[in-house]
Amino acid sequence: MMKSPLLIIAGAKGAVGTTVAAAVADMKQTGENTFPWLITANWADSTILQETAFAGWDLSDKTMPQSLALQGVLSEENYRTSLAMLDTLEVRRPPAEKMDYSEQIRILSQDIRDFVKAHPHHQPVLINLLPACAVIHLEKYHALPDLYRKVSPADFPDLAYVMAAIACGVPVVNFTSNAVECPLVVQEAFKAGVPLCGRDGKTGQTYLKVVIASALKARNLLVDGWYSLNILGNEDGRNLSDPQKASGKLANKTDFLDTILGYPVGQRYGQSTHKVAIEYYPPRGDRKEAWDVIDFTGLFGLPMSIRMNMQLRDSVLAAPMVIDLAVWMAALKTAGRSGFVSELAFYFKKAPLPDSPVAFQEQVAALQKLAKHLK
Ligand SMILES: NC(=O)c1ccc[n+]([C@@H]2O[C@H](COP(=O)([O-])OP(=O)(O)OC[C@H]3O[C@@H](n4cnc5c(N)ncnc54)[C@H](O)[C@@H]3O)[C@@H](O)[C@H]2O)c1
Repeated sequence: MMKSPLLIIAGAKGAVGTTVAAAVADMKQTGENTFPWLITANWADSTILQETAFAGWDLSDKTMPQSLALQGVLSEENYRTSLAMLDTLEVRRPPAEKMDYSEQIRILSQDIRDFVKAHPHHQPVLINLLPACAVIHLEKYHALPDLYRKVSPADFPDLAYVMAAIACGVPVVNFTSNAVECPLVVQEAFKAGVPLCGRDGKTGQTYLKVVIASALKARNLLVDGWYSLNILGNEDGRNLSDPQKASGKLANKTDFLDTILGYPVGQRYGQSTHKVAIEYYPPRGDRKEAWDVIDFTGLFGLPMSIRMNMQLRDSVLAAPMVIDLAVWMAALKTAGRSGFVSELAFYFKKAPLPDSPVAFQEQVAALQKLAKHLK
């Protein structure tokens, strides 16, 4: 019997976390501002969705309504009727940064047990919404104690949350670009009977790039170059203006194209001509803008070109995906699934394991098959 998800969010008061909180509160009332944008509403019982619950951690001491106002993704009229409910959401402080992983995992595991105790009829799901961090190669470690000793929790806090969730038997969604799904972690999840999915929510520009790349590939049109620019002015954008923190995200936004097309774009120039840039541009806040120029060739090698301009809202696109993923993971846990769930590749920019579907039509088909199986 499927249970309603309890979203336990690391980074609960950020732009995406607060938007999710407002959507969860809306679902507890009429849901009319949220349900139409959920894919899982096509197959999950609406009473299951309605009872979705929220908890988590954040560094910020502001209340949830104050955080919503600060993030500015939604206007107050979007969540006015939910203010009282939003004020009751439990968001705890994370463990002190100087503690080692074992100590942090112990504290976070206790927090998770407390959240579960407060929502005994729900299926908890950990959602990682921490800021992007510099790339750390966890895959080079072959034993957890070694990894815990050599990597600092201050550099990679995500790992403590993920390992605490696994220790508590709680499914994990990694919406960030932080590469936490190394073989050791996936193996632990498998052993603990925990499903895990990621990495890096595919919300806007990359989502449409996958669609267009799959369409060009299906017609044997040859992509000669693809230039993508993003301008965004939220905290995520500011954080990504640090080249080290952006490098994981840029790789996730770049790697998939050659895989879908089946050849390296720019081969004839001796270098990749798939270029992706992210620019922090404060006036835009959460309302990001993306530009794409796609150069491709057809019959007789004659050149053609596409221009795309997208004016999107980062967290408005992300929040329903986060809720959907929590519903999928709650259902998968009930169905006894463990380890990495590659059928959810539709939601992510980067597939950490090689068996994930890559073309758009394959990703949609995998998702539909999963829904049929879970129904
Ligand atoms: N919005 C999108 O479309 C989108 C798409 C893909 C991936 N992402 C990723 O999702 C993540 C969240 O995005 P966002 O826009 O909400 O970011 P954000 O910076 O607004 O929010 C991050 C939150 O994490 C909190 N935090 C920082 N360190 C913490 C810690 N150790 N423990 C607990 N909380 C901590 C911060 O106080 C902040 O509230 C980012 O990694 C972003 O790159 C977002």
